[in-house]
Amino acid sequence: MSQETSSIVLPPLPYADNALDPVISANTIGFHYGKHHKAYVDNLNKLIAGTEYAGLSLEKIITAVAGKPDKAGIFNNAAQIWNHTFYWNSLKPGGGGEPPAALKEKMEAAFGSVEACKKALSDAALTQFGSGWAWLVMDGGVLKVVKTANAEVPFTSGMKPLVTLDVWEHAYYLDYQNRRADYVQAVLDRLINWSFALENAS
Ligand code: FE2
Repeated sequence: MSQETSSIVLPPLPYADNALDPVISANTIGFHYGKHHKAYVDNLNKLIAGTEYAGLSLEKIITAVAGKPDKAGIFNNAAQIWNHTFYWNSLKPGGGGEPPAALKEKMEAAFGSVEACKKALSDAALTQFGSGWAWLVMDGGVLKVVKTANAEVPFTSGMKPLVTLDVWEHAYYLDYQNRRADYVQAVLDRLINWSFALENAS
């Protein structure tokens, strides 16, 4: 396999760059996907070239270097690629609204109601100090909400991610400036992809 074909690639966005407008503008997507996400891919490919990690899948790289301080650069870039791809798929034009019945049942079992589940996700997103992520996960068959700092991913702790919210400032600052709460509310109400969450829960 050539170096070229074994490189980690930037996956295409699952929609047009203006498809999430006005909740998330094409301007934000241009920087967030086109610059930040792409930079993680470019950085990782430079960091792993000629190493034991070249040619491995992203998940295998993340799992192999998680918790190793001397591999933090590889972990941060690899996990951020994974997180961002997962984030783009956690959103969709015309999202939000009523979750599919099978997911709604799981939300009600774990949180009492869909609204309480959304509130837990929102609280996680708003209380994450600094950069990070809020996640709906499946942990031992039960839905949970967790938050992670910087590039950390729930699956290295055995939890199965269902959807995520990026709460790094680059995710919302162009559209919402410091108003993280407005960004989180708008995403949960209008963009969150509950069908993707259910697919991941199955
Ligand atoms: Fe981001």
